[in-house]
Amino acid sequence: MTFEKSILCIGAGYVGGPTMAMIAFKCPQYKVTVVDINPDRIAQWNSDDLPIYEPGLDEIVKARRGVNLFFSTDVEKGIQECEIIFVSVNTPTKNFGAGAGMAADLQYWDKTARQIRECARSDKIIVEKSTLPVKTAQAMKRILTCEDNGVRFDVLSNPEFLAEGTAIRDLEDPDRVLIGSTQTPNGIRARDTLVEIYANWVPRDRIITSNIWSSELSKLVANAFLAQRISSINSISALCEKADADIQEVAHAVGTDSRVGNRFLNASIGFGGSCFKKDILNLVYLCRYYDLKEVADYWEGVIRINDYQKERFILKMLDALFNTLADKKICLFGFAFKADTGDTRESPAIFVANRLLEERARVVITDPKALENAMMDMEGVPGDISYEEDPYAACDGCSAIAVMTEWRVFAALDYERIYRSMAKPAFVFDGRNILDHQRLFEMGFNVFPIGKPGLTHF
Ligand code: UDX
Ligand code: UDX
Repeated sequence: MTFEKSILCIGAGYVGGPTMAMIAFKCPQYKVTVVDINPDRIAQWNSDDLPIYEPGLDEIVKARRGVNLFFSTDVEKGIQECEIIFVSVNTPTKNFGAGAGMAADLQYWDKTARQIRECARSDKIIVEKSTLPVKTAQAMKRILTCEDNGVRFDVLSNPEFLAEGTAIRDLEDPDRVLIGSTQTPNGIRARDTLVEIYANWVPRDRIITSNIWSSELSKLVANAFLAQRISSINSISALCEKADADIQEVAHAVGTDSRVGNRFLNASIGFGGSCFKKDILNLVYLCRYYDLKEVADYWEGVIRINDYQKERFILKMLDALFNTLADKKICLFGFAFKADTGDTRESPAIFVANRLLEERARVVITDPKALENAMMDMEGVPGDISYEEDPYAACDGCSAIAVMTEWRVFAALDYERIYRSMAKPAFVFDGRNILDHQRLFEMGFNVFPIGKPGLTHF
């Protein structure tokens, strides 16, 4: 079969995999290949057990795999055969040298650019999918064009706004698709090629174009704004606990102002995930680089509140459990950074588990999808830690339950049964406000929600 276009994606991760699966699903006329240097990951993408859990992903991968969607480790062949290359290799926070702990580690990105230059035999459009520091496109262009091998490269920025757990819905029906390009005739031609791809299923008025730096910056700012909303509501949750107010009532009252909007106002143990912290740190680094100290400090505050919220949660547990957690069995309900994903990157549960172990508590973790990742995250951490698929077994003999992830299954459990199996007095710390606090209190639990006064029997 001949295809109208050949598209490659380098990096078969949370972003690359689902995004390419959606393009293949919506555009049977294109051949879509996803390559990765990690052979295990590619083997998983080619198996019945995909490397990531995302509602709806299995169906679209199975429908298109081997038809117009292919997963491979042959990066070189992939580069040679395609016209368009999406790059979605990971860009973690740098942990060494200048900018350590703040700047993005661009080594994979840099290597990928060089590999594209070395393997390309025909003109290519390169699409930045990974979130990157502003002006990376320019750096990429320089690496690509520093040797004249007769091949033309146009670099576009097309940041990904999908959220885990709703990736397929976000890809199928996005609020917007953003494409940044240079304003030269070649840049605009490349941009229009990418617009055509998305226009196969996204209404034109939702495909926004901009200059390349605005596009790169918009991704960082979008995530910073979302994270800022969570830190804002979480900061007020601390006040509510002191002032006998209820954070859900406050959030509702504030969010019904249509200028504010009611989404993303759930007070929590804190935000996690691979993007928010990394992208804010990136923004902060950029501001410091340009000597914008006040701006950098402002955004850094979003992360400070997030750290404060997690620490506050631990201190509240310690205080409620009579200032000692040593040898007490504590069950973490959930380890994923949010519901409907197995992903645990930057999950607040990692922090909580570590702090509980430092206090010498015995930690039991239960999660419907993230136990394997939890084991990897906690590998080598000293202390008494165990993993249990069945939440009832996990609670047995525990002094406290701490809700880390808002999985719906946790709200539907039989808490009478759980209460009977726990050590007394029994505590619940609901880091997501998903349980019926009054009912639990009436059963005998001492209940500590986020942003509401605790309900105790003492
Ligand atoms: C993505 C983006 O790339 C990141 O910038 C964004 O902010 C978050 O999402 P994600 O898809 O979540 O990252 O990362 P990950 O799941 O780690 O996938 C990246 C893949 O790239 C990995 O499978 C890795 O093996 C692969 N990779 C990395 C390459 O194929 N080549 C490399 O040189 C480096
Ligand atoms: C985020 C952005 O939403 C997405 O647009 C971007 O492309 C990648 O980063 P993601 O990290 O997958 O997506 O999840 P998101 O739903 O944004 O949640 C991030 C964290 O914030 C989670 O830990 C979540 O539990 C927390 N959160 C979210 C809250 O604590 N309260 C809320 O009201 C919303």
